Amino acid sequence: MPEGSASLTSRQQWQALARHQKDLENTQMRELFRKDPERASRFFITGGGLSLDYSRNRATDETFGKLTALARACGVPERIEAMFRGEAINITEKRPALHVALRDPGREPVLVGGEDITPEVRHTLDRMEAFVQDILNRRRTGRTGKVFTDVVSIGIGGSFLGPKLVSEALKPYWHEQLQPHYVANIDGTHIAEVLRRVNPETTLFLIQSKSFGTQETLENSKIARDWFLDNGGAHADIEKHFVAVTANTPEAISFGMAEDNIFPMWGWVGGRYSLWSAIGLPVALTIGMANFRALLQGAHEMDNHFRNTPLEQNLPVVMAMLGIWYSNFWGAETHAILPYDHYLRSLPAHLQQLDMESNGKRVTQQGEPLTYHSGPVIWGGVGANGQHAFHQLLHQGTRLIPADFIIPLKSHNPVASHHATLFANCLSQSRALMAGKTLQEATEELQKEGLSAADVEFLAPHKVIPGNKPSNTLLMDKATPETVGALIALYEHRTFVQGIIWDVDSFDQWGVELGKQLGKGILDRLTGETGEATGASDSSTDNLIRLFRNQSET
Ligand code: F6P
Repeated sequence: MPEGSASLTSRQQWQALARHQKDLENTQMRELFRKDPERASRFFITGGGLSLDYSRNRATDETFGKLTALARACGVPERIEAMFRGEAINITEKRPALHVALRDPGREPVLVGGEDITPEVRHTLDRMEAFVQDILNRRRTGRTGKVFTDVVSIGIGGSFLGPKLVSEALKPYWHEQLQPHYVANIDGTHIAEVLRRVNPETTLFLIQSKSFGTQETLENSKIARDWFLDNGGAHADIEKHFVAVTANTPEAISFGMAEDNIFPMWGWVGGRYSLWSAIGLPVALTIGMANFRALLQGAHEMDNHFRNTPLEQNLPVVMAMLGIWYSNFWGAETHAILPYDHYLRSLPAHLQQLDMESNGKRVTQQGEPLTYHSGPVIWGGVGANGQHAFHQLLHQGTRLIPADFIIPLKSHNPVASHHATLFANCLSQSRALMAGKTLQEATEELQKEGLSAADVEFLAPHKVIPGNKPSNTLLMDKATPETVGALIALYEHRTFVQGIIWDVDSFDQWGVELGKQLGKGILDRLTGETGEATGASDSSTDNLIRLFRNQSET
């Protein structure tokens, strides 16, 4: 790592953890479980309708004591309060991060720049409610009077991943009437495929962009508008079929949006934290406003838990500090998110943006290069499918990969004994990761199968599974609006706490900007706007531009 600020690593609590890691290096979780029959019940906490079993970690009571001491030394309780109070914790953009205010039904004022933002939050929710009711009750229809059957949400990043995850997660709550579709990518296939499936007379388009300046979203929105006009729609009908959610009203108006069709967003909500705002409109249209409010309520319950629970029993804090433990003291480079629920299949993608855009940072808040690693690679996939794909590497690969197993106790679709089987798969994976299989166990197993001594000796090492691989198990009763809201809020707060420890700004994303800046110049040269194909700063880019231009000219 580069030289730079050493304030975190020179803290006594950090160094105590580094020494403690050496003490635990040869400790097996199997042993910890054997010696302590109460381990599972002691390392089990609940909050916001979720339960966390964190007993399968390379950790003892002493570890948790030391991790909490580090959290206190880094000011976690004070920073949590600062977030809820609306202080400008996004220091590079000089603004608060107040996604928690979007889901707070209380009447306490929250001031931003001296103004209480809560009336506008409530007013926007009421506007959303009226809009959703009008669509679902067929008071608001398409240009020919037909009821809307499809809603196409056009947005990318935080204006896409969160709403898409929640619509999928809450499929059992969908109204029959409206089918949601999401278009994000500038790959023309994405919008072409969606437009092929919908009817221009009965499709509502939502243009979702906080900045109203994101190339992918604007270009896709133009395609949607042209398609609408080419298929019988008049300019005057656009306001019946196009609605925008943005913090940049003037740009939306110059795009042709009627002001009444624009729902607000605010600078104090980060894109990846915005599904709770009007960016959640495609969700509200799909599941109804009562369920959308229940989603907000679930997230609010988690906010209350996070704000008011001692660090030792605080779900986001415990999960965050375990992440710090593995990333910074055990050398883990990635973290796996493994939902055992088909409805939650897009959770890894949402958490990827949430975590990696928030904590993929290289300097402290004061701009000093970090002398330690910040956010890990977040990845994952739905169980049990992953067991037949990438879990092999979790079990026998050379890397340490902590994992979160996420599973509801009840299924919305109790098909035969499927849910029990799914649950058994989930438990057997976390058990196998923890317990593994020793050489002796592998040998005895092969001997029982009647293999020759030579074959046993040859095969046994291949069947050894080292175990001692950490995981958390997160449980919920069922994937409901409330529990899904709580689950997403839990990971938001986990991300925030880790950012506090690493002393980074978790609410900006300057790294994304460079690609956007370069993209415009390259596009001009690709399409011939600037005349010259060459002139980039490197010959590789020049060559590839030439190839593309030659291809499109033939
Ligand atoms: O890709 C960077 C990013 O700025 C994300 O943070 C954001 O969620 C996404 O682009 C979309 O931005 P917007 O909502 O402004 O179109």
